[in-house]
Amino acid sequence: MNDVSKNFSELLSLRAAEIEAVLERLLSPSPAGEEIIRPPKLLAAMRHGVLNGGKRIRPFLVIEAARIFDADREAALATGAALELIHCYSLIHDDLPAMDDDELRRGKPTVHVAFDEATAILAGDSLLTLAFDVLARPQNGLDDTRKAALVFGLAQAAGIGGMAGGQGLDLDAEISAPDEAGIIRLQSMKTGALLRYACEAGAIVGNAVEEERDRLKRFGEMIGLAFQLADDLLDVTSDASQMGKATGKDAARGKGTLVGLHGVEWARNRLDGLVGEACVLLEPFGNRADTLRQTACFIASRES
Ligand code: IPE
Ligand code: IPE
Ligand code: MG
Ligand code: MG
Ligand code: MG
Repeated sequence: MNDVSKNFSELLSLRAAEIEAVLERLLSPSPAGEEIIRPPKLLAAMRHGVLNGGKRIRPFLVIEAARIFDADREAALATGAALELIHCYSLIHDDLPAMDDDELRRGKPTVHVAFDEATAILAGDSLLTLAFDVLARPQNGLDDTRKAALVFGLAQAAGIGGMAGGQGLDLDAEISAPDEAGIIRLQSMKTGALLRYACEAGAIVGNAVEEERDRLKRFGEMIGLAFQLADDLLDVTSDASQMGKATGKDAARGKGTLVGLHGVEWARNRLDGLVGEACVLLEPFGNRADTLRQTACFIASRES
């Protein structure tokens, strides 16, 4: 590992620890605000699905995008935590028997295996709702305009025209193989939408002007495509002990992926191309965007 990647992985671990401290507080047993009680089994399932490792790459992007604009640190952390709650909910539901039917996630039994299916569904529902609670709560410290923009952006990224819609297309893709454009659209929704939001949310928290916000959004879109392409590549080239989740599943389930369509070598080249295109978008930010550049490289070359 060279110095740049060593420093980068140390920063990633540091931010993961910061975000986990926030997540731990959000998932404490005490009711928050107007809540009546937090049913212990449901809370335990939510904690299992959230406080179980994970790279925390989405909150990392929120925080590091926000840092370009010297944004308020607490607000960036809260926004990153909200997004990670959505991501963890998406994984809990993605692993359900009715979806990818997986038993291993982040090296541990999936939530429906450790608890039961109904509890896993409710844990996902509760995490999804908690994310919006975190963004909208009075003590979040941002002005109403930025809060509304963050809530609106997250709803768009997570809903039918974003992640959940992409998951719907992903299920269809097991039955009728989409063409290349169809696969790219599906992936830009199921995975790209949350990564794009991560970068855009950092800009919103940092009060960036529209042109800068748009640039970060486009950067997020590019690395979102790279992220899913790398995931599909690792599904072929890696193993469960490395990934902490089952591999070899996409081909087995007949999932349409670009790796399936064009092969491993093509995918590696395409990843390099996507990172290059993403980094061009960061040029106006100069060295303030160095960490985001390293994140793009990390996403393409990650090993888990
Ligand atoms: C996995 O996401 C699901 C995809 C969108 C490919 P991550 O690779 O970010 O999973 P964790 O959060 O690190 O476990
Ligand atoms: C999952 O894609 C994307 C979401 C959860 C939205 P995958 O099904 O490829 O993710 P893994 O491989 O199970 O992590
Ligand atoms: Mg899936
Ligand atoms: Mg899956
Ligand atoms: Mg996958």
